[in-house]
Amino acid sequence: MNVVSCQIMKMEITDLDDVMAIEQIAFSAPWTKEMFYSEFFDNSLSFSFVAKEGDDVVGYLFAWEVSEEFHLMNIAVAPKWQRQGIGEALIKKMCDVGTDRSIKQIQLEVRASNTSAISFYGKLRFYKVGIRKNYYRSPHEDALILQYDFPL
Ligand SMILES: CC(C)(COP(=O)(O)OP(=O)(O)OC[C@H]1O[C@@H](n2cnc3c(N)ncnc32)[C@H](O)[C@@H]1OP(=O)(O)O)[C@@H](O)C(=O)NCCC(=O)NCCS
Repeated sequence: MNVVSCQIMKMEITDLDDVMAIEQIAFSAPWTKEMFYSEFFDNSLSFSFVAKEGDDVVGYLFAWEVSEEFHLMNIAVAPKWQRQGIGEALIKKMCDVGTDRSIKQIQLEVRASNTSAISFYGKLRFYKVGIRKNYYRSPHEDALILQYDFPL
């Protein structure tokens, strides 16, 4: 892995155009502009980070803090920046925040066919705790529920 010198920082509303451009490429059913704005303005549980190379947004993460758990809602890295440690750096930032806030675990859903993301999470010590049947649309597909436990 070639770890690039990206910076991980809190997402600002001015980052959203770049984030949405990556989202369109990364997913078959991308979040809409309304969904992104709702995370920013209507959801007090939501927090988000961007990875930047210079001024360029190259990746992002959205999560919710619910009680003593984080739920990872969305993560993507721009295709030409993948496999360079940026996704891992985004998850590590979330874990650092979780440690500071005494979070016990992180959960997420991932498409059952998304083998690259499943490998990614596996490397980061997420493990399968369940399946949500027909969770996804476009195309219809089951979700695996993965969990990461913070060290005691
Ligand atoms: C999943 C994703 C965020 C990973 O980001 P990334 O920056 O490429 O990942 P990293 O470079 O930090 O990878 C860390 C490790 O994860 C594993 N990994 C990452 N991508 C992988 C792939 N395509 N195939 C197999 N393993 C992979 C590897 O073990 C890798 O370490 P290595 O490169 O030293 O072998 C990125 O592939 C992506 O944006 N995918 C499209 C959107 C998506 O599917 N998001 C997840 C929705 S649940």
